[in-house]
Amino acid sequence: MTYALLSVLLLAAVGWAGGVVGNTSLLFAVIIPYAALAVFVLGFLFRAIGWSASPVPFCIPTTCGQQQSLPWIRQDRLGSPTSTPWVIGRMALEVLLFRSLWGNERVEIKGAGKLIFSPKRYLWLGGLLFHWSLAVILFRHLRFFTEPVLPGIAALQGLDGFFEIGVPVTYVSDVFILAAVTYLFARRALSPQMRVISLPADYFALFLIAAVLLSGVLMRHFFKTDVERVKEMAMGLVSFCPVVSAHPGAFFSIHLFLVSILVAYFPFSKLMHAAGVFLSPTRNLRNDSRMRRHVNPWDYPVKVHTYEEYEDEFREAMIEAGIPVEKK
Ligand code: HEM
Repeated sequence: MTYALLSVLLLAAVGWAGGVVGNTSLLFAVIIPYAALAVFVLGFLFRAIGWSASPVPFCIPTTCGQQQSLPWIRQDRLGSPTSTPWVIGRMALEVLLFRSLWGNERVEIKGAGKLIFSPKRYLWLGGLLFHWSLAVILFRHLRFFTEPVLPGIAALQGLDGFFEIGVPVTYVSDVFILAAVTYLFARRALSPQMRVISLPADYFALFLIAAVLLSGVLMRHFFKTDVERVKEMAMGLVSFCPVVSAHPGAFFSIHLFLVSILVAYFPFSKLMHAAGVFLSPTRNLRNDSRMRRHVNPWDYPVKVHTYEEYEDEFREAMIEAGIPVEKK
């Protein structure tokens, strides 16, 4: 955990230096963001194509419900779908509402060896708040990258700042995402079981995301940046006519640099679960193994030695050793 934290602090320091040291705009505002994007696109394609090309010879969905079988047993169509529309439904609920996390359970031994199962939904709630808030924040950020600004962004911004707390207004998505990241960190750091299975990469991803969020929130509320210049820079980047001028502030430099690192790191990290969920055979296959015979397309003829042949070969020796035989 300490190394992960130090690495993120070091990266933030590099980003900060990029914003205050002279003549670094070309590197920090153009070269690094473009390089990060290129690594992201190529890395993402490389991993997604690699996964989609891996063989899935059998029907291996993990059933979370009753499969279609006898007419008098009710099928759980979402848990155990036999048709593509229901698979799409299962996938949509998984991606949009984290359906399988909803079924998360705590198992405890209580009293006189009683095994107790109870629903455990904090992770579901934390995960949902985190991902939906992130989606809202990223969508709102499109105001920097589009001209005229995409329809819907102003409305979402209004809704997100509905409570009109503070100047500039505090977004609900910012509060939710910071709370969710804090929970996700506490869950890992405070539980002894979670600490044992946590790797530096788990903390690094969390700290990096938290640092991006914190630098953004600090920039909005305390260390103001010139948003007009940010927009000019962002439009330059997306139109491939980059604007090279002094950075609009050290905090913006930290924010952009950390985002670049996050984007470049994404394809090689656990964050790729965003693509992996769609390629997961246990989620994207129909569970029709009782309706259709699945034959491994890569099966090759295997030379077998049947028991009959075995007995023919060793009958004398088996009788001599007192081993029972089928044919006398
Ligand atoms: C993974 C990507 C990113 C995340 C998670 C993120 C997150 C955030 C958050 C949480 C805020 C606080 C205020 C708000 O919610 O709008 C913020 C503000 C800000 N972000 Fe980002 N950001 C990302 C990418 C970028 C990029 C690529 C730019 C470059 C154009 C950028 C520029 C800004 C600016 C200028 C602000 C201050 C906005 C204001 O003062 O209203 N962000 N960011």
